[in-house]
Amino acid sequence: MNLTLKDEILKRFLSANGEPLSVQQLGEEFGISRTAIWKHMQTLQDEGYTFDTIKKKGYVLVATPDRVDPPRISNYLATKRLGQSIHYFEDCTSTQTIGHELARNGAVDGTVIIAESQSKGKGRMARHWESTKGKGIWMTVIIRPNVLPHQAPQFTLVVAVAVVNAIKSLYKHIHPEIKWPNDILINGKKCTGILTEMIAEIDQVQALLIGIGINVNQQSSDFSEELQNIATSLSIEENESLDRAILIATILNYLEKYTDLYVQHGFSPIKILWEEASGTIGKRIRATTLREVIEGLAIGITEDGILEIQLDNGEIKRVYSADIELS
Ligand code: BTN
Repeated sequence: MNLTLKDEILKRFLSANGEPLSVQQLGEEFGISRTAIWKHMQTLQDEGYTFDTIKKKGYVLVATPDRVDPPRISNYLATKRLGQSIHYFEDCTSTQTIGHELARNGAVDGTVIIAESQSKGKGRMARHWESTKGKGIWMTVIIRPNVLPHQAPQFTLVVAVAVVNAIKSLYKHIHPEIKWPNDILINGKKCTGILTEMIAEIDQVQALLIGIGINVNQQSSDFSEELQNIATSLSIEENESLDRAILIATILNYLEKYTDLYVQHGFSPIKILWEEASGTIGKRIRATTLREVIEGLAIGITEDGILEIQLDNGEIKRVYSADIELS
């Protein structure tokens, strides 16, 4: 992973799991002077990390700031590609915009861009995405699968399954459901949105930019008036403050696994996982597409991830992209 020396030292403290580390020992490990180690530890303290002194043994890390900086994420990663390169920003316009620029300049498969806040967070259909500082996960993952452009929308479903399973594996009181194609809801309120964009030639995807926005530690009052009745956060639902770095790493672990599954075996295994996590299938819905409004029963998704709606007259309509309201 592309960590600075300061971040490598932090990672070493994180993985020491409370065992004291001496400055002498760190200096030898990293091949730098004790003074240089000290300087990096001082910077970490300025950033909000707290070290306790253990007499004659060294230092232990006892508190970390509430930030999603790369060494904290990498401490929980079990991936080969996803998150092995992380670009971290305190503030940015949109991780999606930065992702486009990095992907065009050759960023490797699995590169992740994360920000504590975004001033121009983008949702689907050019909507604004509220990205309150330090409260959520605002990230873009660049992947470079060997697929055709028409397969790109299926990745939104792959990502939704990864996020749902990551949430379920970490928080026992939360029951997330996917609303086709890109929302994750808890008790009917939105906690996650996914935006999949691509850079492609006519017959080849060069990069997919997977934007994931998750409301994690907001309280109701942190949302704008417009969102208060329709949005929720994982913390509101779990009733405690949550560690965003662990959630990011867990999502990346699942996302790599499911991306590999998709590339090796196609959409079929993902379809099964998606159906298990879906809150759309079997419900009456209203789908607003660019051309029409369709009302009926959501009966399933096709082998390509396209939504099928049965109208009251029995006719079945296929929907490729739409805004969905559940009745
Ligand atoms: C939606 O539900 O409309 C999709 C929302 C996607 C938001 C995420 S936050 C990280 C990434 N950067 C952005 O500007 N948008 C996506």
